[in-house]
Amino acid sequence: MARVHALASQPAAIALAPVAGADFLRFVEQTSFDPADKSRIKSQYEKELLAGTEGFGAVGIVACGQLVSAASFGTVLLPRAGAVSVRIDVVATAPHARGLGLARATVAHLLLDRLDRGEARIEHASVVAVHPLIRRIVESLGFVDARMGTSFPVLQTTLDDAGREKLRAELQRQKSLALQHVRTECARCSLRRRGPWCQPRGT
Ligand SMILES: CC(C)(COP(=O)(O)OP(=O)(O)OC[C@H]1O[C@@H](n2cnc3c(N)ncnc32)[C@H](O)[C@@H]1OP(=O)(O)O)[C@@H](O)C(=O)NCCC(=O)NCCS
Ligand SMILES: [Zn+2]
Repeated sequence: MARVHALASQPAAIALAPVAGADFLRFVEQTSFDPADKSRIKSQYEKELLAGTEGFGAVGIVACGQLVSAASFGTVLLPRAGAVSVRIDVVATAPHARGLGLARATVAHLLLDRLDRGEARIEHASVVAVHPLIRRIVESLGFVDARMGTSFPVLQTTLDDAGREKLRAELQRQKSLALQHVRTECARCSLRRRGPWCQPRGT
C-alpha cells in the first residue's frame, strides 16, 4: 500500500503544458540555430506571444522537468462569422532530443488542444513548412500544398465536422504513439549512469 502511494506521488516524467511566450521564444532561440547556414528560426508572432494576445500561444513537452520540444500557434479570423484558421508557427525540439517523435507529438498536442478549445469554429489550419520534417508531419495529417504563389511553401487543410473528427483521431493516434516511447525512456532516466537522455550532456 505504502509503495503504491510512493509511486503515485512521483512527478510524471513527461508532461504536456502551455509555454509562456517569452520562455518559448528563448527556447527557440537556443535550439533552432543551424550551424550549416548559421540561420535561426524566427516566429511570425513574436509580438503576440510576448503580449499574451488571445488566440496566440505555445505548448510544449516537458521531460524530467525541462522543456524538450515546443510549438507556437496563431489564430486568423475567416470571412465567415465566427470561423477561424489555426496557423502552426514554429516547431522546435532541443538538439539532444531530436528524432524521437517529439515534434510530431508536439504538433499533435497543439492541434488537439486547439480543436478542444475551438470546437466547430476551426475550419482551416495551415503552416509554413520550410523544414522537410515539418512537411512530413503535417502531410501525414492531411495537409496539402496551398499553391499561394509565395516564395515559401504553405501547407493547409480545410475542415468540416467529418474532417475535424478524422483529424482528431489521427492526432490522438500519433500523439500517444510518440509519447509512449519517450515516457518509457523517461521512466528509466533516474537509473541512467550517464545521465538522463532528455537533458543535454554536461549539465
Ligand atoms: C524540425 C524539428 C522540429 C524536428 O524535431 P524532431 O523532434 O526531431 O522531429 P520528430 O522526431 O518528431 O521527427 C518527425 C519525423 O522525421 C523523422 N526524422 C527525425 N529526425 C530525422 C533525421 N535526422 N533524418 C531523417 N528523418 C528524421 C522522424 O523519424 C519522424 O518521422 P516518422 O514519424 O514518420 O518516423 C527539429 O529538427 C528542430 O527543432 N529544428 C530546428 C528548428 C526548425 O527548423 N523548426 C522547423 C521550422 S518551424
Ligand atoms: Zn527523462
